[in-house]
Amino acid sequence: MLRISNTRSLVGLLLAALASQAVAKEAEHRGPDKPIMLRQSGGFTIGGKIIPHPMDPNLTLSCDHGYVEYFTPWRPRKTGIVMWHSSSTQTFQNRWDGGEGFKDKFLRREYPVYLWDGPRVGRANWACNATSYAPDYRDKGNFVAWNFGPRFPEWWPDVQFPTESEYAWQQATSSRYVEYDSEASVNLETDAAAVAADSGKLGDSIVYLGNSASGLRAQMTAVKSNTTNIKGIVCYEGYGYVFPDNAGIEPGAGLNAFGPIIVPLEDFKKLAKLTAIQFLWGDHRDESYTFLNQSRQAAALINKYGGNAEVIKLGEDKGWKGTTHIAFADLHNEKVAGFLDEFLHKNGLSHYQ
Ligand SMILES: *[C@@H]1O[C@H](CO)[C@@H](O)[C@H](O)[C@H]1NC(C)=O
Ligand SMILES: *[C@@H]1O[C@H](CO)[C@@H](O)[C@H](O)[C@H]1NC(C)=O
Ligand SMILES: *[C@@H]1O[C@H](CO)[C@@H](O)[C@H](O)[C@H]1NC(C)=O
Ligand SMILES: *[C@@H]1O[C@H](CO)[C@@H](O)[C@H](O)[C@H]1NC(C)=O
Repeated sequence: MLRISNTRSLVGLLLAALASQAVAKEAEHRGPDKPIMLRQSGGFTIGGKIIPHPMDPNLTLSCDHGYVEYFTPWRPRKTGIVMWHSSSTQTFQNRWDGGEGFKDKFLRREYPVYLWDGPRVGRANWACNATSYAPDYRDKGNFVAWNFGPRFPEWWPDVQFPTESEYAWQQATSSRYVEYDSEASVNLETDAAAVAADSGKLGDSIVYLGNSASGLRAQMTAVKSNTTNIKGIVCYEGYGYVFPDNAGIEPGAGLNAFGPIIVPLEDFKKLAKLTAIQFLWGDHRDESYTFLNQSRQAAALINKYGGNAEVIKLGEDKGWKGTTHIAFADLHNEKVAGFLDEFLHKNGLSHYQ
């Protein structure tokens, strides 16, 4: 007969059993096989301007707004994930081989998901200014920029891409759209994004998921927001960082497409007030890489003012070899999603509404 020597250990056993049940239940909610059940989905425009025709004020143009497509799980968690890609929302929808992307992975995990197209890009392309597009023959440039290999068509031997599939490569490179890289455009896009964040229409607990140039945009959005709705930024291979005006850092030259963008210290401190920030890097990124270096400088400054920012190399620190510029579309994106899961849990951002 099992004899429990004292009440305390009996209580301990019971608590342990309950706790492991709770963990199992939570795992079931997060599990990759859970069906996606939506309460609703839809979309709306937000921000922007209504400008009069210069010759006929009776004619107006509604322009420079952003576009949000939203998906609300049947039983939503409190924190919504705003997926922001500056040059291809498609990268959040599917993995390189057509498998499941982060949009579905996080709906399965019962997070509200928002796909955001900033002013002038994607589904928000009705611009107040004249815009232009010049074909620039960028396919091979994408290959290197997205860190599939050192040069086209030399794949990294361990790359998390279905290299044998010509179709997958074609899908990847043609999913891009015009990005408008200039500081003026960053400001235009983040004006609308800050209005969206502060509107409450994305909830009151927002985590921005950025990649590449949208990392800079997510930081600027937090700097411009006047509410506490934004709780976190997770950015995969961010190109461009925001710095305070007292750090001796020079703003970027020319159009300043990828920062540094310098803001008043008081505004920069808004980044330090966020619950958590994670700047993530793929594999094959040397410490001398400009944006990796800047991410470390930016994280150190955010932490100096009381923030909670970390820099993680998914290749070297996690051992996930061959991680590309766009880790959430990589073949091992389930692992990358699990790591985001951990981030949300450990920072208290996984509660249900
Ligand atoms: C604008 O509309 C008003 C009211 O309908 C009209 O009186 C005016 O002539 C219009 N202006 C132009 C420039 O068409
Ligand atoms: C829009 O056009 C105005 C006037 O030409 C210019 O000053 C401004 O920088 C443009 N904005 C963007 C975002 O391109
Ligand atoms: C935040 O407040 C400032 C100062 O009042 C204002 O200029 C700015 O437009 C506000 N931002 C948003 C996103 O409403
Ligand atoms: C960034 O690069 C500079 C110059 O190469 C170096 O002095 C500095 O230590 C680097 N900073 C970080 C945080 O790695």
